[in-house]
Amino acid sequence: MSKDSDLSKWDCPPHTKAKHQMLSRYLDGWFPILSRWNGRILFLDGFAGRGRYNDGSEGSPLIALRRLIQHRHFENMRDREFVFLFIEADADNAVNLQKEIDLLKAEYAPWPHNIKTHVQNDRFDKSAESIINTLREQKRNLAPTFAFVDPFGYSGLPMDLLTDLLAHPCTEVFVNFMVGHVQRFITRDGQERAMRSLFGMDVRDVLNGYSVDADRVEHLREVYVRQLREQVGFNFVQSFAMANSTGNIGYYLFHGTRHQLGVKLMKDAMWKVDPGAGCRFSDRLAGQDVLFTPEPDLRPLSEAILQHFAGTRSVPVSEIEWYAILETPYRETHVRPVLRPLEKHSAIKVNRPPGKRQFADGVTIDFP
Ligand SMILES: C[S@@+](CC[C@H](N)C(=O)[O-])C[C@H]1O[C@@H](n2cnc3c(N)ncnc32)[C@H](O)[C@@H]1O
Repeated sequence: MSKDSDLSKWDCPPHTKAKHQMLSRYLDGWFPILSRWNGRILFLDGFAGRGRYNDGSEGSPLIALRRLIQHRHFENMRDREFVFLFIEADADNAVNLQKEIDLLKAEYAPWPHNIKTHVQNDRFDKSAESIINTLREQKRNLAPTFAFVDPFGYSGLPMDLLTDLLAHPCTEVFVNFMVGHVQRFITRDGQERAMRSLFGMDVRDVLNGYSVDADRVEHLREVYVRQLREQVGFNFVQSFAMANSTGNIGYYLFHGTRHQLGVKLMKDAMWKVDPGAGCRFSDRLAGQDVLFTPEPDLRPLSEAILQHFAGTRSVPVSEIEWYAILETPYRETHVRPVLRPLEKHSAIKVNRPPGKRQFADGVTIDFP
């Protein structure tokens, strides 16, 4: 088997670029929000890579650092400490990553003293275990953390470890779940331990309730999401499917958070990458010229809003927006385009105080 530093593994297909676009967009919102309330925040890249791809594209560590240093509000975050911990098991990749970081630091010299970087040449599970033990000994919690967990395969990211590491309320995860490999190997002899570790449960329990004519990929997605919710304890978990050039889903990106604002930010990132539905990217369509930006079908949102709020009066628009963010696949920006035609067709009654326009703050809705 080739080493993880073999350059044949470092092409940058469109789905990788889409993943990086989501990460970038999310961090643009996450850095200022988290640093508003916390003196120190941690970006932990558990499978950090070698820093750069064959086509020159930057990897996740450089992307994360650049998003912070180029942030339009970076000056306001000068009194906060940002710690970037990059864990990389392959020695050659770790050396290359350090070299790339040094070049970035030279580019931005003098490097801000409040951005600390550390490349750790070790396995994610070993490093995470040692972080957990140190914190336990010192009776401390992990600083507010964004953990990016982006392996090539499905080994080395035990669910039990994620549970211990990410127990603190201000931690989040953005994890790459290689469902294509998992569904192919889950019933193979010799894979029981790896699967048990990945899901935090026996293969028998993972496959419980799955019938052969059902969609195995979807079943595995549901089980992993359930584990992130119930075992790790994230109140909100969103999925984004990455399809390969054959149209099959190769992996899911899951975002787990305990905060509503995190869901809002990640929805924004997901809809940016997939303007038609906010939940899927396909290599097959990437790079093709499309005449029109795909428009989302807002009818299901319209129906869901009418059903959910049926019989309620004086509902603030912001409440409907949060409902869309947290309970539907849509974003808050989809709500007003749905309310407008509902008002026009008298399907809702809009209480608009004098001087208030459209659906401004203070406007409320009565639902039949
Ligand atoms: C998909 S790549 C990471 C790409 C990177 N996150 C990016 O977006 O640029 C996976 C990386 O994990 C490393 N790796 C493999 N097993 C690992 C483990 N158990 N712990 C930490 N890193 C590992 C590989 O050497 C490889 O560099």
